[in-house]
Amino acid sequence: MSPAELAAHLPKAELHIHIEGSLEPELIFALAQRNGVKLPYHGVEALREAYAFTNLQSFLDIYYAGASVLLHEVDFFDMAWAYFQRAYADRVIHAELFFDPQTHTARGVDIGVVIGGLQRACEWAQAELGISSRLILCFLRHLSEEEAFATLEAALPYRQHFVGVGLDSSELGHPPSKFSRVFARCRELGLHVVAHAGEEGPPAYIWGALDDLKAERIDHGVRCLDDPALVAELARRRTPLTVCPLSNLKLCVVKDLREHPMKRLLDAGLCATVNSDDPAYFGGYLNANFVQTVEALGLSREEVIALARNSFEASFIDEETRQRYL
Ligand code: HPA
Ligand code: ZN
Repeated sequence: MSPAELAAHLPKAELHIHIEGSLEPELIFALAQRNGVKLPYHGVEALREAYAFTNLQSFLDIYYAGASVLLHEVDFFDMAWAYFQRAYADRVIHAELFFDPQTHTARGVDIGVVIGGLQRACEWAQAELGISSRLILCFLRHLSEEEAFATLEAALPYRQHFVGVGLDSSELGHPPSKFSRVFARCRELGLHVVAHAGEEGPPAYIWGALDDLKAERIDHGVRCLDDPALVAELARRRTPLTVCPLSNLKLCVVKDLREHPMKRLLDAGLCATVNSDDPAYFGGYLNANFVQTVEALGLSREEVIALARNSFEASFIDEETRQRYL
């Protein structure tokens, strides 16, 4: 078995998937029709053609437009269920799903509708596919900390349905320190804490995620390589990085997958993992990310096994299952 085939066959955990980023164009149009939502694209092909991104913001503009078709609990269920079926085909046995409540509450959708639909899909995934899952509520960093606090407050009646909080959306100009107080409150509530940092932003934002937010994982984090002291600290703490190679390629963080820093991160002794980020927009689900990265960088069987193992080490899965896959 080649390293790429091994990667496709191994059981894996996916830790960085924005569930709204799993909305395929076909489902976007089906939901638009079902809900009577008008889209500024003529059809599936025209929408796909718009997926020529130049940076994070150019993607986010389209991603938020796509999410506008989600109105009812069943829409959130259908979206997450479609993801779980694809994850199952890729040998994902555990998934931690980011969701962006503010994208929906801003359109008048109740947060209970969002969490209810996602939670029901998580239950089905366990019952029908044997996939365990967790939800992680993300705050949109282009909005204010006050709005993040209001979102947290609105989510508290559903506290038992999510295990942690994250920070996503436009990174540049929105350092982690902007959200220090709301993350402190989340930690008091016993929530896990993760944050996007060092995707487009500088190493200082990764330091900020560690020091100001006490992030347990860094989402992306690839720009840590610009700061050797930071790499040493991430290795010392064994802070996981949830890296998303095809996302990095599509958002022009790297020019070519052959230049992707994944191998350098592993060589530096970091707990790096492979993830799909927004698979409907970036050209592939988890195995596509694994296979293309393994082939582009010539990763070995040992490196593939380390990546799969890291995904469980870095997960918030129950301790017994975590130990079984280490
Ligand atoms: N980065 C920041 N915010 C996001 C992303 C991402 O890759 N995907 C969805 N929201
Ligand atoms: Zn992301």
